[in-house]
Amino acid sequence: MSSQIDHLLSESRRFAPPAQFAAEAVGTTELYERAAADREGFWADQARELLHWHTPFTQVLDWSNPPFAEWFADGELNVAYNCLDRHVEAGNGERVALLWEGEPGEERRITYAELTEEVKRVANVLEGLGVGHGDRVAIYLPMIPEAVAAMLAVARIGAIHSVVFGGFSADSLRARIDDAGAKLVITADGGYRKGKVSPLKPAVDMALADRGSGEQETVEHVLVVRRGGNDVEWNPERDLWWHEAVPAASADHQARPFPAENPLFILYTSGTTGKPKGILHTSGGYLAQAAFTNRVVHDVHPESDVYWCTADIGWITGHTYVTYGPLANGATQVLYEGTPDTPHPGRWWEVIQKYGVTIFYTAPTAIRSFMKIGREVPQRFDLSSLRLLGSVGEPINPEAWVWYRNIIGGESAPVVDTWWQTETGAIMISALPGITETKPGSAQVPIPGITIDVVDDSGEHVGNGNGGLLVITGPWPSMLRGIWGDPERYKETYWDKFADKGYYFAGDGARLDEDGDVWLLGRVDDVMNISGHRLSTAEIESALVANEAVAEAAVVGASDETTGQAVVAFVIIKQSFLKAHAPEGLAGTLRTWVGEQIGPIARPRDIYIVGELPKTRSGKIMRRLLRDVAEGREVGDTTTLADTAVMSVISAQLK
Ligand code: WT7
Repeated sequence: MSSQIDHLLSESRRFAPPAQFAAEAVGTTELYERAAADREGFWADQARELLHWHTPFTQVLDWSNPPFAEWFADGELNVAYNCLDRHVEAGNGERVALLWEGEPGEERRITYAELTEEVKRVANVLEGLGVGHGDRVAIYLPMIPEAVAAMLAVARIGAIHSVVFGGFSADSLRARIDDAGAKLVITADGGYRKGKVSPLKPAVDMALADRGSGEQETVEHVLVVRRGGNDVEWNPERDLWWHEAVPAASADHQARPFPAENPLFILYTSGTTGKPKGILHTSGGYLAQAAFTNRVVHDVHPESDVYWCTADIGWITGHTYVTYGPLANGATQVLYEGTPDTPHPGRWWEVIQKYGVTIFYTAPTAIRSFMKIGREVPQRFDLSSLRLLGSVGEPINPEAWVWYRNIIGGESAPVVDTWWQTETGAIMISALPGITETKPGSAQVPIPGITIDVVDDSGEHVGNGNGGLLVITGPWPSMLRGIWGDPERYKETYWDKFADKGYYFAGDGARLDEDGDVWLLGRVDDVMNISGHRLSTAEIESALVANEAVAEAAVVGASDETTGQAVVAFVIIKQSFLKAHAPEGLAGTLRTWVGEQIGPIARPRDIYIVGELPKTRSGKIMRRLLRDVAEGREVGDTTTLADTAVMSVISAQLK
């Protein structure tokens, strides 16, 4: 075990913030000091400074009934007013809110004044359809400005949105509509993906047609944006076109105040069981932490920055760092509809060059795919506007981190690795880019106002240099308020494990280095035990990817008679490497390599060279399926894969 710690901790590269960046940064050391002295007072300050309250709050945190928290409970606000009207009232109506780029290349620039007007009209349409306070609205849209407008219109009237990622099937959509009891679905005919129109309305039709007898249909209307231009079926009693209903509606709409704890949205995420959990977030605390983290972690200067978060609004990252955080801060942001490689592999870099993007926030899986293609592609574009890079979603291995900083960030832009979850609502662990000396591969420190720890199974602090479980030791403003319709599951999943301490169990393994900085090691479900030694899949993957031949790697723990579990690796080799070298003996070489990098205990028992890895639509590797292959079982349920054929290809390759 000590040898594997040494491997990650032997990462000795350090990057201080550039002097100019540090001088102008939003995040300062005073924030840490203030939060350490009075955590609740600190959050109250943020909520007052960053948001407009129709009714100011006097209470900060109510934790009298844990794990059910209330923040700013006697305050009232309107989330959409905070993201729109107040910027117009402050004289910033002409500032661009959205720089939208369609996959085929169309462009729309939408100012705060225009977006406010659009959202007011949509709010009137929704109310005209009988949607009101507390009703649920499913949103199933591509990355178009209407998606952001729809979310904000729902928020404006005090209803609850449930955004369903456009890549999900009719079945998944239906399960989510049913669980939330949605009254309205907002969708589009289709959206552009990989150069083609990918239909959406037909999936909604299927989801709604597919109702068993005796089941009450909750959906009364379907509001449809015309985007793809594809033919769609039409149910005149139920369906209405956005482009007819919205322009016809009044542009006057008063934003009513709602209590801070008014539910804002439900977002479904997969847990350990088959049934997705509807994570519930509320208004005031969520918006305060969203705005705060976007300002201090992404260092957003709303008057000058061009910000781009590549996440789809179907995921929490899109909720917090496309819709709510940046708009609450009055920032200008890029919204891009399509895939990174359509119509050419430099599409994202072209967008950055075209709009002069200054802040860029994306996922390690994307960064690694770009590494695989090669630096020649980004180097064809002018990326000099970039001054800050962010990473989110999974551990970023040091090699990818350094590549990101050097090739995309021009060897100067700070990289912030941000750890958080659908459940946490907003960033929890991250460097502050103007203060922290960054370490490639480490998320480092909790943000001001957040308290975390790494503990052993009984909840005891492990101490620097040791690994354990990541916990959050106190309630935070943007925390989930529960699982929709299932308070018991909420308690069981997150709070029962450390009930006596009152800690939130995140489900992630982590390690503290000698400085007390946090290194995320992947979900504890992916932690392996080899001959009584704990090894992290992320760490072996990191070692593999550090080899010049390897583009991407996934590691699983497969059961083994002698060692309990054995390390099995699935590896994609770089095209460029294969052109110059014979593949013979590569598996053996890599096996030795890992042994050298981490220690003999980490040497994979098997290394399979494959062409693809099974990934979910959000880019997470599905290790469960690889474990099936590694253990010689029939491969389990593949329906949540982005490409369901991948597993048959892998299985066939290994036969
Ligand atoms: C899980 C949450 C956070 C929004 C997108 C994913 C992993 C997330 C990091 C990071 C290491 C990370 C964790 C976490 N994760 N960010 N910076 N370093 N791991 O949200 O789908 O709710 O997944 O993603 O395992 O528990 P999510």
